[in-house]
Amino acid sequence: MNKLALYCRPGFEKECAAEITDKAAQLEIFGFARVKENSGYVLFECYQPDDADRLAKEIPFRELIFARQMIVVGELLRDLPPEDRVSPIVGMLIGVVDRGGELRVEVPDTNESKELMKFCRKLTVPLRAAMREQKVLMARENATRPVVHVFFIAPGCCYVGYSYSKNNSPFYMGIPRLKFPADAPSRSTLKLEEAFHVFIPADEWDERLGSGMYAVDLGACPGGWTYQLVKRSMMVHAVDNGTMAQSLMETGQVTHHRADGFKFEPTRNNIYWLVCDMVEKPARVTSLVINWLLKGWCREAIFNLKLPMKKRYEEVSQNLQSIQEALATADISAEIHAKQLYHDREEITVHVRRMWSAIPGRRDER
Ligand SMILES: C[S@@+](CC[C@H](N)C(=O)[O-])C[C@H]1O[C@@H](n2cnc3c(N)ncnc32)[C@H](O)[C@@H]1O
Repeated sequence: MNKLALYCRPGFEKECAAEITDKAAQLEIFGFARVKENSGYVLFECYQPDDADRLAKEIPFRELIFARQMIVVGELLRDLPPEDRVSPIVGMLIGVVDRGGELRVEVPDTNESKELMKFCRKLTVPLRAAMREQKVLMARENATRPVVHVFFIAPGCCYVGYSYSKNNSPFYMGIPRLKFPADAPSRSTLKLEEAFHVFIPADEWDERLGSGMYAVDLGACPGGWTYQLVKRSMMVHAVDNGTMAQSLMETGQVTHHRADGFKFEPTRNNIYWLVCDMVEKPARVTSLVINWLLKGWCREAIFNLKLPMKKRYEEVSQNLQSIQEALATADISAEIHAKQLYHDREEITVHVRRMWSAIPGRRDER
């Protein structure tokens, strides 16, 4: 199997392709990306037979911005016989995957694939049984073993392959299923909730998303992001000229500042979180967040970069590089990650965590 299939948001195939080509080249692995616009996936075909497996192991999945999932696949299986679709699929995996831990029968995230998904659900049970019989899958689910993926792109037409459980998205189709909280003021609340799931390990939530922490939300109205912070018992300074949801104001945890988020300065020195969802040019938001980090006004930041322009991958790369360079120049060590989340549309979400600063008196470790 010498191809890597990457799932992405439909419409972002070119960005996903540019990114995988770049990241593979950094590992001196070469190939070419096949892109079909609005298909919801990209195929990266490696020139060397074992290179797709190397990529699946060596490119840290969490460093990919536009890919929702990364799997190693073989040739496309076409025209599966309706009387027995199972045997050819299992046949592709014998000798390739030994005792996988889980099976996911998936489709691209497009409207056209919705019907296909119903069929996938039906096929999962007989496929799983046949794979277990052939020892392609273990008898029980096991989260530490490779995941077997069957990726249907059309009726009777699928890619078959695997991902590594330590280096993939743990979610079916790479999409976390989050329930919209009925009392949240806007749907964009799910963007921040998803960001927490993606960027903050679950066992660190108590420490990094704990009650009593202070947060600033720039561009907060009507309050979907503030809602997530309030729900975690934080105290929030919400900055926006608009109107905040009354339900949030009534919690007593929110101070609303009718001010320009680009001019606002924190009034206290123990702000842990900065979150920002202002619709503005990416470079302007980036330099705002850099300023907050350099001044030590927050420890962690989550913000959106809106991408209405054509050269979206270049725009994202430039902004991330600006953050890296600014922090490195100031001797501030930081973790920087970016992802196009499922709930993001024409945008990506960036997370920066200051680890420590070499400037005396500005040591951040707790
Ligand atoms: C996409 S909405 C934010 C939605 C919010 N995150 C939520 O979940 O409800 C963008 C907000 O940014 C605000 N905004 C835009 N430019 C701003 C600025 N310079 N200063 C403060 N707020 C700004 C707008 O008023 C708008 O309410």
